[in-house]
Amino acid sequence: MAEIGGSLVFVGFMGAGKSRALRRAGEAGIDGADTDALLEQELGMSIPEFFEREGEQAFRRREAELVLRVLGEDHEAVALGGGAVLSEEVRRALSGHTVVWLRVPLPELWRRAEGSKRPLAADREAFERLYAEREPLYRRLADAALLSADATGEALESLRALRSLRDVRLIWAESGSGHYPVWIGPGAIGSAPRPDAERWFCITDTRVAELHGDQLGIDGPAIEVDPGEGSKTFELAGEVLRELAERGVTRSDCIVALGGGVVGDFAGFCAAVYQRGVPVLQVPTTLLAQVDSAYGGKTGVDLPDAKNYIGAYHQPTAVIADTETLRTLPAEELRSGFVEVLKTALLAGSSAWSRVRSIERLEPTGLEEIVFDCALHKLEVVAADERDAGVRATLNLGHTVGHAIETAGGYERYRHGEAVGLGLLAALRLSEAEELREEVGGLLGRHGLPTALDGAVDTEEVIAAVGRDKKLTSRGGGFVLLRRPGEPLVRQQVDPARVRAAVEELR
Ligand SMILES: NC(=O)c1ccc[n+]([C@@H]2O[C@H](COP(=O)([O-])OP(=O)(O)OC[C@H]3O[C@@H](n4cnc5c(N)ncnc54)[C@H](O)[C@@H]3O)[C@@H](O)[C@H]2O)c1
Repeated sequence: MAEIGGSLVFVGFMGAGKSRALRRAGEAGIDGADTDALLEQELGMSIPEFFEREGEQAFRRREAELVLRVLGEDHEAVALGGGAVLSEEVRRALSGHTVVWLRVPLPELWRRAEGSKRPLAADREAFERLYAEREPLYRRLADAALLSADATGEALESLRALRSLRDVRLIWAESGSGHYPVWIGPGAIGSAPRPDAERWFCITDTRVAELHGDQLGIDGPAIEVDPGEGSKTFELAGEVLRELAERGVTRSDCIVALGGGVVGDFAGFCAAVYQRGVPVLQVPTTLLAQVDSAYGGKTGVDLPDAKNYIGAYHQPTAVIADTETLRTLPAEELRSGFVEVLKTALLAGSSAWSRVRSIERLEPTGLEEIVFDCALHKLEVVAADERDAGVRATLNLGHTVGHAIETAGGYERYRHGEAVGLGLLAALRLSEAEELREEVGGLLGRHGLPTALDGAVDTEEVIAAVGRDKKLTSRGGGFVLLRRPGEPLVRQQVDPARVRAAVEELR
């Protein structure tokens, strides 16, 4: 984690845009050093030439020497070659700096590298292997993640602020309708910078108000709703909107959504429609909200018969996920949030899946990396598809049947995460992923989550609610299925008899 001060050091795989990020920083007047360019000058030849003449080992030696020297100089920004982090000495030296990971998806990296003269990009398989080897290093070292080099200019103020924060990491979120900082870490509520606003108005629930309300340091009373899904209604939103008007809230002010996914969705919705949109700062306090719902701008309320039927896309101006707040979370809420972690790991595959499947015991501490990884996955998906036209639909894995179970249970019988856990089992049945279904069932059981529907929820009502969920698009939303971890398939039409069988099997 970054100590106070140091350079902004751009790292990432070949083709991620480290030199480009440095140029963007340069356009904002920042002095920078590009170690690959300096190395070519020093070697008197191009890197591919040196590689060919002297081999990789000799190259890595020269590279590490130069990088260590540059990191000891006083540059405000430095770009490293993709393999520089392989040196343990370099990794150690980076602990005194703020490491900015340019995180670009593998297919895009290959598209950029294919056919180039890069010595390690000759064939795709070797390229992918190298990526799998290095990606965990970048991930571990990163104090900040950017999804594109071109975001550097906009993110610069936040990156500079990060240099004076301890234990807090930053992801710069991008989407068609808004870019914003996401701060993650213990104590972030008190330390992370807040967006500019004339005044702040907090919307929260009574439980969170009591536990964490004073941490925000906002003058004036918060608007409090009852805890739980029952508050996500159109009627209550009407009352809160009137309250905002009575308090004289304007577009120069900022709403703060302090709480779990319910408050985030509800307050985000109020912010989206009040005066056609006022800024909202999301401050998630449940695991579910920190790993998933606070990001990506989906806001809304429920109808009695259908979940999230009224809503709007409204990106936050910032997200502050203070992992310390999870310490007060009841165990059952922690478990419920774990299901979204599990879902993300199933979608992301590889190392994320390996890590989550091996969690023996859920604790409310030490979750910073999981929160960071899940947030990053979600933000990457949203950056590629803000409005659910393609890849974002993958995030609904387990949610079609999950939402239907929540609705059929009157939003009271099951927590969101618990219902989604059951929905995951149904989705894996429909995916014909037998072994995986068994393993996921085992994981749910291990963490005390339900693996079977109880008698309080009627099968017919679940099936009717699945039908309504699928009508969300005129073509029918279809299901998200999973071939194997990391390989989701969206908009899959499934024979209704198989859906019925998958729900009945949950009995
Ligand atoms: N917008 C999205 O993209 C998205 C994604 C996933 C889920 N969601 C929505 O999220 C909602 C579920 O969110 P949730 O599981 O966070 O539920 P929640 O907001 O109801 O919170 C669960 C309970 O935990 C309490 N709580 C919150 N923070 C606490 C803390 N730090 N310590 C102690 N208690 C605390 C709350 O008072 C509440 O009783 C659902 O409505 C779901 O539809 C939205």
